[in-house]
Amino acid sequence: MDQDLIRLVNKLQDTFSNLGATSCGELDMPQIVVVGSQSAGKSSVLETIVGKDFLPRGSGIVTRRPLVLQLIHTPVPSEPSPNALPYTEWGQFLHIDKRFTDFNDIRKEIEQETFRVAGQNKGISRLPISLRVYSPNVLDLTLVDLPGLTKIPVGDQPSDIEKQIRNLVVDYISKPNSVILAVSAANVDLANSESLKLARSVDPQGRRTIGVLTKLDLMDAGTNALDILTGRVYPLKLGFIGIVNRSQQDINVEKSLTDAVESEAEFFRNHAVYRNIAHKNGTRYLAKTLNQVLMNHIRDKLPDMKARLNTLMGQAQQELNSFGDAAIFGDKNQQGSMILRMMTQFARDFVSSIEGTKVDIS
Ligand code: GDP
Ligand code: NA
Ligand code: MG
Repeated sequence: MDQDLIRLVNKLQDTFSNLGATSCGELDMPQIVVVGSQSAGKSSVLETIVGKDFLPRGSGIVTRRPLVLQLIHTPVPSEPSPNALPYTEWGQFLHIDKRFTDFNDIRKEIEQETFRVAGQNKGISRLPISLRVYSPNVLDLTLVDLPGLTKIPVGDQPSDIEKQIRNLVVDYISKPNSVILAVSAANVDLANSESLKLARSVDPQGRRTIGVLTKLDLMDAGTNALDILTGRVYPLKLGFIGIVNRSQQDINVEKSLTDAVESEAEFFRNHAVYRNIAHKNGTRYLAKTLNQVLMNHIRDKLPDMKARLNTLMGQAQQELNSFGDAAIFGDKNQQGSMILRMMTQFARDFVSSIEGTKVDIS
């Protein structure tokens, strides 16, 4: 996530907690939900957004329980204390009391926990796995990875598996606070895209849906997705973004995320057809777009937050007035006016931080 955005959100949250308000409640950041057919590349996309390798990925049915991933910003201490932890990023599951500092172990734990509840075969479960990732490099945000939409039952799956998964997905994407990443693979006809159909059913005007088109590298020779990517096929306000994730071969040889994002950028830059729209595609642009969506969300919340600030300041002023008798409350009064000064400063910081922030996504 964009460092400026992380700083802004933290400042807002600090402002409110300094004012004694419940911090995150005011901002109520959206949750980002990834939807798409089996193996469309949902988990891969989610990983690149977080910027960490930690999700089980692969051909076939890998994601068999919802994963609710809460990112929690943890500042790096400015002066490391002698008993500071030897790491700054870690994961913590709801189902086990343990800090995971190796993200490979997080992947293994997700796999084991999937097997434990959803069985050894291909069954799915509605019961989410809850994982919190604490890091200085993230924004307080919730991301949800979901089992892929499927048509034909396999393995342990019940005959109504299609309906079950569909209902599960709809539960998550119908929340108005969800931003839907509707993932479709470019080597499958978009007219058959289940993710777009479902997204449309809960967001008919396409206001909170981002179209993500993966596997551009796997399209048949002589075909391309230019019309889709330029919005001429399917209308979405937030548009379509083309992506090239790591292939199964890349995963097998443990290609790093950084290398993957670099070769993806190269793919777009050097492509005869996509060269001209390279700057509006790829993982980096997807991250930028998400930042923009979050920024707009914060702007929308601004009037409410300002009103809340005014109320809090009014309350503080009243409290100060009630101190009254300076002879008795002399010290307190001084304290009070200091608090008021601090609050005014917070309010100013708050307003200027939001008004002075511009995120460019040209
Ligand atoms: P999910 O089932 O939707 O979560 O999909 P995964 O992220 O697990 O990916 C399924 C398989 O497709 C994995 O083997 C990935 O390596 C592969 N894959 C995903 N996206 C792409 C892509 O853009 N290009 C290529 N070549 N392979 C991809
Ligand atoms: Na998969
Ligand atoms: Mg998956």
